[in-house]
Amino acid sequence: MDHGEAPVLEALSRYHERGHTAFTPPGHKQGRGADPRVRAVLGEDVFRNDVLAISGLDDRASSGRVVARAQELMADAVGADHTLFSTCGSSLSVKSAMLAVAGRHGTILAGRDAHKSVISGLVLSGLRPFWIHPRWDPDLHLAHPPSPEDVGRALDESPDVAGVLITSPTPYGTCADLDGIASVCHQRGKPLLVDEAWGAHLPFHEELPTWAMNAGADLCVASVHKMGCGFEQGSMFHVRGGRIDVSHLGACADMLSTTSPNVIVYAGMDGWRRQMVQHGHELLSAALKLAGTVRHRLDGLPGLRVLERELVRAEASRQLDRLKVLIDVSELGISGYQAADWLREHRAVDMGLSDHRRIEAQLTVGDDDTTAEVLIDSIAALATAADGLPTPRRVDLPSPRELELETVMLPRDAFFAPCEDVPVARAAGRVCAEQVTPYPPGIPVLLPGERIGQAALDYLVTGVAAGMMLPDPADPQLRTVRVVR
Ligand SMILES: Cc1ncc(COP(=O)(O)O)c(C=O)c1O
Repeated sequence: MDHGEAPVLEALSRYHERGHTAFTPPGHKQGRGADPRVRAVLGEDVFRNDVLAISGLDDRASSGRVVARAQELMADAVGADHTLFSTCGSSLSVKSAMLAVAGRHGTILAGRDAHKSVISGLVLSGLRPFWIHPRWDPDLHLAHPPSPEDVGRALDESPDVAGVLITSPTPYGTCADLDGIASVCHQRGKPLLVDEAWGAHLPFHEELPTWAMNAGADLCVASVHKMGCGFEQGSMFHVRGGRIDVSHLGACADMLSTTSPNVIVYAGMDGWRRQMVQHGHELLSAALKLAGTVRHRLDGLPGLRVLERELVRAEASRQLDRLKVLIDVSELGISGYQAADWLREHRAVDMGLSDHRRIEAQLTVGDDDTTAEVLIDSIAALATAADGLPTPRRVDLPSPRELELETVMLPRDAFFAPCEDVPVARAAGRVCAEQVTPYPPGIPVLLPGERIGQAALDYLVTGVAAGMMLPDPADPQLRTVRVVR
């Protein structure tokens, strides 16, 4: 295929050249109706390019196959059999993939370190989850993805599941042994779905972790806006092999999706594919080299430790995306939350992830020596300022076992059951009716349908006091917990 083409961008240019006049949404009519104060901030071009997909970018019958051709080019670029675009983020793609694979069967096996969108998928679909517990690193207190042996054992215990869903890379950049997991799944005739939201760039460089399709996964979901250069909300499904019914996947995505996709988001994905095919290797080589320098220099600063070798373990996290630079700040006597807040307040530097003892910097092809210097210089200043920051509040970290809560109701049944908000001191032993998710990284500690454990509550309550954010529970301060009545 000719990867010099970019069908969505070309169709947009044609639209402007022909001088279309739209008597359709969007009502701002290429910006003419938009408040000038809005245009002054967003720019004229955002409105100019915000056109309807059907009877706008393409004709009424989509006879130009504009988006279809862009998807075919993307599939060809990465070596998938089929690619579908979504403008609703991987949050929607994950749910659609779960429905497409397991909706008819009613059960799915998933890593418990799943993103909150997987839990929403369970609530919407009514699926019964069987969990594979991640490998907790008790020293680092982070979850490694499950190993092939973990997946094999879980499949032996629940052989009737429709398929297996694994998150890789994790938000920390660690990657599962997907080759091993795919063969375990396929030996048992089960499709492997991979939430590869953090891995859109993986197909384009051999020094990055193996991407899901090359490892033999049947379906994967990737956010183009996270590690790629698309706009927020741009997400793709890739499918390979014969285990996934692609038209059913499309129907499930259609059911949850918008009927008004943002063509600017499509254009971002289309243009990024062309850029990656033509220049991706060279750009990613430069980004990886920069990441190596950043890692080395940050690791040399007093009180800071850049994690690398300790994140990769033979049986679980097999590979690491080195563009995600995870920095332990605990020796500075501060928490990751304090570090992230200080960097934003004093240096206008925003970090990708923070937890009780770490911050993470995400580097991409958009970084260069200038941004790297800003990062290193700001973190060096943080190291100097750390002495003046208050002692962080202690977070009661549960043991791995204490995070494995018993599922006693289907997530959907618990979420929609009659419920009540009880003081957190009386919540242990009750059945949770909501998700409680430290964000980032977005992996829920409590799920609807789980029996709440005291240690998990202690972790969340002390975490909130230390700066952890819980965007989803009814009371984000967790003074109360919503439980099944
Ligand atoms: C592992 C994982 N899956 C899915 C998502 C959802 O992706 P999106 O933000 O594109 O909706 C995220 C977002 O952080 C994530 O970390």
